[in-house]
Amino acid sequence: MNTPAVLAVVEDNELTRTWLTEHLTTAGYTVHGVATGSAALRLVEQVGPALMLLDLRLPDANGLQLLKRFRELDRDLVVIIVTAYGELETAVEAVKAGAYHFLQKPPDLDDLLITIDKGLEARRLWQRVAVLEKQHSWQFADVEVVGRSAALQALAEAVEKVARAERATVFLRGESGTGKDLLARAIHAQSERRHHPFLQINCTALPEHLVESELFGHERGAFTDARERKKGLAELADGGTLFLDEIGDMPLGAQAKLLRFLEDSKFKRLGGTGDITVDVRVIAATNRNLETAIADRTFRSDLFYRLNVVPITIPPLREHPEDIAPLAEYFVRQLARDLKRDPPRLSPSAMRVLEGYQWPGNVRELRNVLERALILEETQEIRPEHLPGEISLPGAMADDRPSPLRLPPGGVDLGHLELDLIHQALARTDHNVTRAARLLGLTRDTLRYRMEKHNL
Ligand SMILES: Nc1ncnc2c1ncn2[C@@H]1O[C@H](COP(=O)(O)OP(=O)(O)OP(=O)(O)O)[C@@H](O)[C@H]1O
Ligand SMILES: [Mg+2]
Repeated sequence: MNTPAVLAVVEDNELTRTWLTEHLTTAGYTVHGVATGSAALRLVEQVGPALMLLDLRLPDANGLQLLKRFRELDRDLVVIIVTAYGELETAVEAVKAGAYHFLQKPPDLDDLLITIDKGLEARRLWQRVAVLEKQHSWQFADVEVVGRSAALQALAEAVEKVARAERATVFLRGESGTGKDLLARAIHAQSERRHHPFLQINCTALPEHLVESELFGHERGAFTDARERKKGLAELADGGTLFLDEIGDMPLGAQAKLLRFLEDSKFKRLGGTGDITVDVRVIAATNRNLETAIADRTFRSDLFYRLNVVPITIPPLREHPEDIAPLAEYFVRQLARDLKRDPPRLSPSAMRVLEGYQWPGNVRELRNVLERALILEETQEIRPEHLPGEISLPGAMADDRPSPLRLPPGGVDLGHLELDLIHQALARTDHNVTRAARLLGLTRDTLRYRMEKHNL
């Protein structure tokens, strides 16, 4: 056990107070006994006990008012009322006012100890809930993923599961800037492989003829520049994780080798004859539509199916706008720390602008916008004018885009369409009318009016 819990015994009868104090000390608690309401208040303010046994009849105070004051000082203080015979009504009042429980005098010692134990357990749970309510992110070892929306919750669960399946190949899909890199690292950090390397190759950044030798290595003389043997990433990542970024850009030759590697963990170095076997988990990522690449014959369909066993799709930021605020606050804090300054506040109107924007560049774009504001503006409060024009101008997104909807030849029922879009907006925002209105380009009142029109 850790340090003993601190209890307060507030009781003006000296005999009872001494009896309680002695027994509770013997039971292993640190006990402070006081005889008056004012001494009890000082105790709560200065010592902060976890639990209090309170006699409602004190010489200098009204027990109920005292109780309310205690709860204001410490919301998690567990108060057990100890009442004289015939004071049941007051005890019930006290429970309504926030006391945890009541016992009659003289309390049975076993009852008392059990009640104290349960009360302390309840306090631990209250405090745990308070922590969880404040927490906006998931911590995967040293990787922090911010967001508590249903979408991010599903992602976090997927990361947990996949991290445990040490060998499963993972396929991360999502638009640019949605957090594929971050999740790949989270999976690695959460898995048993975390003490082994996490190596990464970006298939777009490398000239085609180098991808294969980067991945699988080469023997001396395998090609003109190969003056000595070189190990590839697959070999160097042994025991760990290999992250293949932008796999849609992998040359076909390397794709064939990769498929074999995924199937039996074996490969040959370029120019080599012997098979090399390693224990590596592969995580692949793409923001491209691989189905199109397959149709164009630039991506092997057998490799696609092999990768697609455990797909994880990261939704674009505009589909979980409720995470914009926690993400923005997180980035402001993080960037301010990097810039060695106090984090500025985000004004409510700036937050509304951020929450109303569509974020085609997703989380990365959000981070970049805030970084720019922090670097260019010395201000202690970020306001809409500190944000780039394209995101703060109302309707900026809507105007220069082709209409996403085409009127079908047979026409539409505009009323039905409206109802359907309202339903979708509400579903996407967990029935938050303000945010749903923003998604529809309406004010909150206009949306309310239209909802009433549809009897919603
Ligand atoms: N949920 C999140 N919590 C905290 N940071 C995030 C989150 N999602 C993304 N980021 C941050 O946003 C930035 C972009 O994310 P990342 O590089 O992982 O995106 P990506 O999907 O790999 O993009 P690309 O397709 O362009 O490679 C990074 O700085 C990353 O740390
Ligand atoms: Mg990336």
